[in-house]
Amino acid sequence: MLVIALILGAVFFVHRRRKQRGHKETRPVLPDTLEETETIKTRRPILIRTFRRTLLQLHRDSDLLFRAEFQDLQKLSARLPHGEKPVDELPYVNVDGKLHSDSETMDVFKANYIQGYNSVREYIAAQSPMPSTVPDFWRMVWEHKCKVIVMLSDHTKGVKGKEKSYWPKNLDESVEYGGVVVKTTNVSLFNKYTMRKFQISMGSDTRQLTHFSLQGWTDAKADLTVDDVVGFVQIVRQEATLTNSWPFVIHCSAGVGHTGTFITLDYFTQYVDKHSLDENMDVFSYVMKMRENCPGMVQMETQYIFIFDALMAVIQKKMTEEQEGLYERIEESEEGRNHIAPLEETPHYYSIM
Ligand SMILES: *[C@@H]1O[C@H](CO)[C@@H](O)[C@H](O)[C@H]1NC(C)=O
Repeated sequence: MLVIALILGAVFFVHRRRKQRGHKETRPVLPDTLEETETIKTRRPILIRTFRRTLLQLHRDSDLLFRAEFQDLQKLSARLPHGEKPVDELPYVNVDGKLHSDSETMDVFKANYIQGYNSVREYIAAQSPMPSTVPDFWRMVWEHKCKVIVMLSDHTKGVKGKEKSYWPKNLDESVEYGGVVVKTTNVSLFNKYTMRKFQISMGSDTRQLTHFSLQGWTDAKADLTVDDVVGFVQIVRQEATLTNSWPFVIHCSAGVGHTGTFITLDYFTQYVDKHSLDENMDVFSYVMKMRENCPGMVQMETQYIFIFDALMAVIQKKMTEEQEGLYERIEESEEGRNHIAPLEETPHYYSIM
């Protein structure tokens, strides 16, 4: 009897254990990728003063850690709820939602707000306007009162692959695009970039805007250096500060790769300028934030690496200035004068390192 009771008890016990385990197993299991992304660090602060050391580590063994970091970015991005409005502190505004696409074609002009250093709606990251979306592009520029446009692709391709620009080619020529009359009033050619002035009007309302284009950046064979790009970012920032109005339109062909790279550089150039060397900066999480609003920003690993190399130049310049400032202060105290050197006015900016 006792034996039977024991056997029954044992069976009952085993059964319960099984049931418990079974219960455990029916819990929702997270897919591997999701579990994996949970362990990925989303914050990667780097002390500005030791940026060079971190950069060297990332570059070591043929960019091994850069590759890992970019792959983490891709994995985290894959988890983002694309196509939905992300629940995030950054406002997501799909500019094309306000615009009417050309009814004859299926082309929709795509553009997104991106948070900048000064405003949550500092930039509009856009595709290059196609022949059918040029009117949308100009209506957007008008509607959002944009004063600065930055073009990072060489030229938009026309229907037959012919080069096509979305502005009047000749000086003082006016062309209407989607109700906006655009007139090219000035073209200044610089070594690496071109600056154009447009006068745009709708009805009796007239505005001025500045258009910058950086030639050859999207061309893999381009001979643009880190300093060329950093210099260009600073030229644009000067103009942006002068106009003191947002948003600025930044576009390359797809509106994510070079556009994201430019925006990140502009953001951190200001960041480094306004922070002490003993503070942290976090490129990884800024790129991630951009991707939450606009998928694919900083599309390529090479672009991600380029950002770091370019920011090294920016930081190096700040450190050098700080050193010089130190010497100047020593001189000042010796000579008992207070001298402030005037800023150089030429728009050329080549020597950073
Ligand atoms: C364009 O602007 C530059 C700089 O302000 C000026 O020197 C040049 O004469 C202008 N060109 C035209 C065609 O107005």
